Amino acid sequence: MNDYSQFVLANISKLPEAGTITCSSPSNIALVKYWGKRPIQLPENPSISFTLEACKTTTSLQYKKRNEPGEDFDFELLFEGKPKPDFKPKIKSFFTRIEEYLPVLKQYTFVIETSNTFPHSSGIASSASGMSALAFCLMQLERKINPEITDEECIVKTSFLARLGSGSACRSLEGPITVWGTHHEIPKSNDAYAIQFPYEVHQNFKNYQDTILLIDKGEKQVSSTVGHDLMHGHPFANKRFEQASINLTKLKEILISGDLNAFIEVVESEALTLHAMMMTSLPYFILMKPNTLTVINKIWEYRKKTGSKLCFTLDAGANVHLLYPDSEKNEVLSFITSELVAYCQNGQYICDKIGLGAKIL
Ligand code: PMV
Repeated sequence: MNDYSQFVLANISKLPEAGTITCSSPSNIALVKYWGKRPIQLPENPSISFTLEACKTTTSLQYKKRNEPGEDFDFELLFEGKPKPDFKPKIKSFFTRIEEYLPVLKQYTFVIETSNTFPHSSGIASSASGMSALAFCLMQLERKINPEITDEECIVKTSFLARLGSGSACRSLEGPITVWGTHHEIPKSNDAYAIQFPYEVHQNFKNYQDTILLIDKGEKQVSSTVGHDLMHGHPFANKRFEQASINLTKLKEILISGDLNAFIEVVESEALTLHAMMMTSLPYFILMKPNTLTVINKIWEYRKKTGSKLCFTLDAGANVHLLYPDSEKNEVLSFITSELVAYCQNGQYICDKIGLGAKIL
């Protein structure tokens, strides 16, 4: 059993009466993918991601001390200004999971107001930004209860709590690059929370761009929870987990050396492997759409023709993330508008780039 007692809020002296905390936290895009977990929300393999900047959730947490601690959690949830009852069960199970570490939750009535910068049901996972933003707000409340906590302890515990909401959320709190999951070559990497990539990153990756093509905004046919579960007993699971570690070793060197061709190879292979795992599970499923494949082929043609370092990655969905160096911004954007927009649903795409994580507003 893991011992996470260091994360239990113990110094509860005086509870603040009432107030509001507002923060924002971004989404992130994995370069080496996390797919497969064990209880509770621990990854089967290490992953690494770019923290994004534009795609983010803003959350405000209003808290008011109850006269008596209640039997159950007491919270209201507003999404983009309106009550959102279908999000409540997810928050409730998040509170249930983290109560052990934040044993004051039932002493408060909360109003949680949240909104995203990216379009609703755009196929961009809002769980990473949403859960990390909520964890961040809750840790600001913990800070008021225990002002002794250091910045370092606070960010570590925020990532730890966010992980319990949604695995990949733990990688959103800091930037520009974070690692989650134990990896023998990355000091301090561990399964319980994400850390910042601990090496100086090559200039080539500074301000790296991510333009997200919204190929299909439909609801996902298979949730990531179900997808992770299908890695249990998957015929290729163990090889896949080993491969992810090997790819992280390669990526570590690449991020330090600035080798963009090697970057393309690892990142595209990771994206296709994630989807290959979905296609080879039982039941099997396909999240890519015909336009996803058309876009991938167009990227490959463009690269061949121009020598560009543009590459793609995919999340658990049909949308395509186009990753490219800042120095290629103008050329790639004109390629997108002339050749790729036609394959986006309603011509929609989002220009994002590598960012620095969550902040108090
Ligand atoms: O955080 P979850 O449980 O929604 O899983 C996300 C998994 C992927 O987005 C597909 C990959 C990753 O590492 O972010």
